[in-house]
Amino acid sequence: LYDVPLEAGELAIHDLGRPRFRSPLRLPAADPEVGGSFVADGTRILLRVEMGPGEECDPDPLAFEKAGPRPEIFFDPPRTRAAMVTCGGLCPGTNNVIRSIFNELYYRYGVKEILGVRYGFSGLAADSDHPPLELTPSFVKEIHAFGGTFLGSSRGAPEVSAMVDYLDRELGVDILFCIGGDGTQRGAHALAEEIARRQLAISVVGVPKTIDNDIPFVYRSFGFFTALEKAWEVIQAAHTEAVGARNGVGLVKLMGRDAGYIAAGATLVSQQVNYCLIPEVPFCLEGEGGFLPALEQRLVERGHAVVVIAEGAGQHLFDECEVERDASGNVKQRGDVGPLLRERIGRYLEQRDVPFTCKYFDTSYLIRSVPANTGDSLLCDSLARYAVHAGMAGKTDVLVGHWHNTFVLVPIPAVIRRKKRLSPVGGIWTAVLSATGQPERFGPPDPAAAG
Ligand code: F6P
Repeated sequence: LYDVPLEAGELAIHDLGRPRFRSPLRLPAADPEVGGSFVADGTRILLRVEMGPGEECDPDPLAFEKAGPRPEIFFDPPRTRAAMVTCGGLCPGTNNVIRSIFNELYYRYGVKEILGVRYGFSGLAADSDHPPLELTPSFVKEIHAFGGTFLGSSRGAPEVSAMVDYLDRELGVDILFCIGGDGTQRGAHALAEEIARRQLAISVVGVPKTIDNDIPFVYRSFGFFTALEKAWEVIQAAHTEAVGARNGVGLVKLMGRDAGYIAAGATLVSQQVNYCLIPEVPFCLEGEGGFLPALEQRLVERGHAVVVIAEGAGQHLFDECEVERDASGNVKQRGDVGPLLRERIGRYLEQRDVPFTCKYFDTSYLIRSVPANTGDSLLCDSLARYAVHAGMAGKTDVLVGHWHNTFVLVPIPAVIRRKKRLSPVGGIWTAVLSATGQPERFGPPDPAAAG
């Protein structure tokens, strides 16, 4: 399923200790068959649900612990202090998550002291000039209608032990919710490790946030579907521009640093894209089977084309240079592939005397700085509430995952050890090939395939 196979024991969830209090939630007794009931510890969701013909049931299958409200909890609500932090790039739905975490804690569990850490992990530096906000019902009331994050965000983090000092000694926080992507979860894990080393009773719970949809064990991270919706609008505009000109090319660059889920997803939503280029599927521009000869051929035959490229695709087209990382630890792009592709398309067609017009759309931050759509709003609400249940139960170093349409608890180390990438032989890419009609790969014929 992922680049690093799962090992037995890797999915075991850490907790701070035995639950000591009865949950204040009034729910039916734990019953795996009854939705909305308490969930007993040890209730599991299998990693694999499909069995091949004649395959025997694995007597000890890999499984996630099911997320949900526990009948007994670790923290006493009136004496609990929670905090939340939003990190990394902006993402539609972040304010929905802040609001739903607040509401679940405040109204359902009765936790009244809830802090909002400002500008990501930088707000956990003792000497920061932006101390946490004390959140209130009126603060969160309207925030879900807006994009961005009302707490502010940033990449990177101050020194881990200084953050734990601040959380423990200055703020007296019992539960920290870390809303962010893989960089944020690496930071959350570092905090949880230091907290465990000091034997402190602070729970760290991650909420998966990224438009890139590249977090392992999360079928769909919040923000992804909203980003697809915005990307689709741009592709429609690119299509209109392309068909409105003789040999019109509509070229759209979409975010997706390491994974092509946005480009592939938007291609499938729109069904108007003729070529989709993603980081997981390398391509050649020129030569036999290359992208540019295929584009020229299409212009001759159909008179227009829509091309979508993920920002992380085609990095091989830039000269080798030293790998640079951003403050979150992500490898920075070597160069901007959108303008490069526009230039190469232009040069190639001009050299061959093909009249053309190329309209370039860099969607940039437009697809992520908007409010959540309906689907993401629902997802954010669920993720937030499951995160609160996990935190109140004393689960720690844990991320709320989404697996087989169920919310599960995933140990953060299992998440950050692996990468989620779009499989070039999987269902999504196969669907993209059939929606676009493009070949499996752009480049010389694969000698292996030729047998
Ligand atoms: O991680 C999400 C993402 O949108 C990536 O697709 C993109 O490369 C990155 O954020 C850019 O974010 P920023 O410019 O804020 O560092």
